[in-house]
Amino acid sequence: MALLRGDPVGLSVPRKTLPSKCFYDAEGSRLFEAICELPEYHVMRMETAQLTDIASELAGFVRDGAALVEFGSSASAKTRLLLDALPGLGCYVPIDISQAALDWAVAALVDDYPGLPTWPLAGDFTVRPHLPDGADGRPVVGFFPGSTIGNLPSDEATAFLGRVRMLLGAGSSLILGADHTRAASLLVPAYDDAQGVTAAFNRNVLVRLNRECGADFDLAMFEHRAVWNATEGRVEMHLASRTDQVVVLGGRRIAFAAGETIHTKNSYKYHPEQLDGLATRAGWELAERWLHRLTAPNGKEWVFGTTIMNAWHRGREPKARIAFTDRTHQFRQLIPVPGSSIASISGAECRGLGLGLSQIRCLSDAPSSPNRTVCDRPGLWCLGESLNDT
Ligand SMILES: C[S@@+](CC[C@H](N)C(=O)[O-])C[C@H]1O[C@@H](n2cnc3c(N)ncnc32)[C@H](O)[C@@H]1O
Repeated sequence: MALLRGDPVGLSVPRKTLPSKCFYDAEGSRLFEAICELPEYHVMRMETAQLTDIASELAGFVRDGAALVEFGSSASAKTRLLLDALPGLGCYVPIDISQAALDWAVAALVDDYPGLPTWPLAGDFTVRPHLPDGADGRPVVGFFPGSTIGNLPSDEATAFLGRVRMLLGAGSSLILGADHTRAASLLVPAYDDAQGVTAAFNRNVLVRLNRECGADFDLAMFEHRAVWNATEGRVEMHLASRTDQVVVLGGRRIAFAAGETIHTKNSYKYHPEQLDGLATRAGWELAERWLHRLTAPNGKEWVFGTTIMNAWHRGREPKARIAFTDRTHQFRQLIPVPGSSIASISGAECRGLGLGLSQIRCLSDAPSSPNRTVCDRPGLWCLGESLNDT
């Protein structure tokens, strides 16, 4: 059951889920590339147009001899726009969970860019990979296009961006492409197209479970659904059971009630400022952002943004801290936090910092004015304190 190894098996719990990385076997990658061509799916066209416009400006941020490391590279189609603008690039490291997508992409790249060392890494980019030795000592630029960041909720996105910063190292940069559109009338068709390609992409996860995990899903008994969840600011993809049924998976019996769904994918649509906040907390500093807009016939706007950000240098790390104290103001913990203007810190981030609290809000850490606010755990206070001046 390699497909589910390492993941919480989300099919035996009341609200059934599967991680979106399960989409990408060879067929999933082929279907994703077909989605990119659909009239309803504007992300690919908008980002390609934007990168075409700004490639030479981006090149100004990249030093000769640099290693370009791409997260979720698929066909490396947009990457070519960067490669063309960066003739002095030292090497290219595409990372993808789909071995088939890497094989196709690299076979084409070695023909078209014969002088560029290309070292593909097949694997999960959320688990910190090791860069090839050939990238050692080079300036490093990360590339994370396609709005793939939107597959992660904000706490996981922050944690991921933090790991990317650690992987790429001090002095590195990251080029991040994300779709900021929030109009349901545009988004839902983009994830539920008229030709049914996205539906086939969604159902392909059941094909994988049948083949790789000994399941007996009847594909015709599951319907593809895409819905805009305004509260969470995300498009959700689901597979809804058309009837009461029992599916066998690896010897386990899994019951579905009619209408019950497997939640297979989220695409969060972050505002540009929200993304800035996530990146800042992960230790990145915005260098430049470009926004590309497209107005649909119904007057709604698609907005796509590409951002280049720089990793905080060692020694320039923001020195804000959060101190946890009880009402007597005796310190319990004092923990450095990346990001100089913390607006809020979520439960998962707290756990990442070794704290067992469910939610903490720290309104500001403005210099010289420690700002106190109440945590949601009775009797515990949180002090946001800037040490930037010390
Ligand atoms: C939305 S597609 C974007 C593809 C391409 N970057 C683009 O902009 O068109 C996401 C890509 O990330 C890969 N991917 C998804 N989750 C991954 C993970 N956890 N680790 C590595 N690759 C992953 C998929 O195989 C797929 O190629």
